[in-house]
Amino acid sequence: FKVTWDVAAAEKGGYDHFMLKEIFEQAKVVKDTLMPRLPEDQNRIVLDDIKLSKKELENINKIYIVACGTAYYAGIVGKYLLERIARVPVVAEVASEFRYRDPVIDENTLMIVLSQSGETADTLAALRLAKQGGARVIAIVNVVGSSIAREADDILYTWAGPEIAVASTKAYSAQLAAMYLLTCHIALELGRMNEEEFKELRDELYQLPRKVNRVLNKAERIKRLADKYVNSKNVFYVGRGLDYMVSMEGSLKLKEVAYVHSEPYAAGELKHGPIALIEDTTLVVGIVTQAELYDKTVSNLKEVKARNGKVLAIAVKGNTEIEKVVDDVIYIPQTHWMFSSILANIPQQLFAYYVSTALGHDVDKPRNLAKSVTVE
Ligand code: G6P
Repeated sequence: FKVTWDVAAAEKGGYDHFMLKEIFEQAKVVKDTLMPRLPEDQNRIVLDDIKLSKKELENINKIYIVACGTAYYAGIVGKYLLERIARVPVVAEVASEFRYRDPVIDENTLMIVLSQSGETADTLAALRLAKQGGARVIAIVNVVGSSIAREADDILYTWAGPEIAVASTKAYSAQLAAMYLLTCHIALELGRMNEEEFKELRDELYQLPRKVNRVLNKAERIKRLADKYVNSKNVFYVGRGLDYMVSMEGSLKLKEVAYVHSEPYAAGELKHGPIALIEDTTLVVGIVTQAELYDKTVSNLKEVKARNGKVLAIAVKGNTEIEKVVDDVIYIPQTHWMFSSILANIPQQLFAYYVSTALGHDVDKPRNLAKSVTVE
């Protein structure tokens, strides 16, 4: 009698692939990133590795958020939150553009870089450029002791743990969680958020890991939807406001692991061009989690249906009237408008994963991609 031991399978903890395992780790990752920073007995956010003082923050007159790939897409969510809540002007840009365009940098500039690996060459170069210009740099980074962690002035670690699958999933959720913390921290310091508002948000953040699990419980249903739409020729991911930011990551994931052509689009821009591409083999994934923009996006989705496109919506539980407009709906739990960004992305991750595996692709190691891009 011989016991066979499959090391590779054991590492995947019973999941078929690392990507799926990492998707399912997200409740823990969100919890690990948020909770140590949100003690119940203090009305502030505890960010041990951020030394930037209130006084220094008050002198900041603009923020650059710079990153690559998925980290950049977490960055644009951060831009949206920081501008809207902390009321500081923010420019978000991919590092490979930022570093070559001679941006305006001085002592009153704050740069936030995001990187899972902490080793991406363009992000590191952008950080160095900012420091040369006198800017203060905060890094949101996952790997302790990485180059970016070492060179930044302040650090906010994402506690996502090692990410093995090439396509980033849990690191993105951790980056969003870090952005929620940083946004609240800056808003509190600048007096743009009061204690009551903060406590309300904190209570909602305590609920977030549980809500992440509720979305993960929909995996079987999302697999069936992936099977239904697996032959779509073109996929658009559309939304408005924060939903538009989140749609970009959804589109990237589908391209990366399923090799299906997809584009993110601001829902209101559809009629300025892309609507010409809508036909019955086109799938439009509509993200509609923002109450104040709901009617506007739904009317855009109706325009898609009127041209025979297929529509899969990601909406907030309770908004059942959308079922009359679209082909299929995945509901996420109700939460504060900011935090729906993590929840709405999870169905996008699962959808990309299941389309990829249905097509027989190597989902953990997609062709032509590298986990960490340390060359220009
Ligand atoms: C590569 C990876 C992506 C990642 C990007 C930025 O393209 O395939 O998943 O988002 O680099 O990497 P970083 O380590 O800086 O977050």
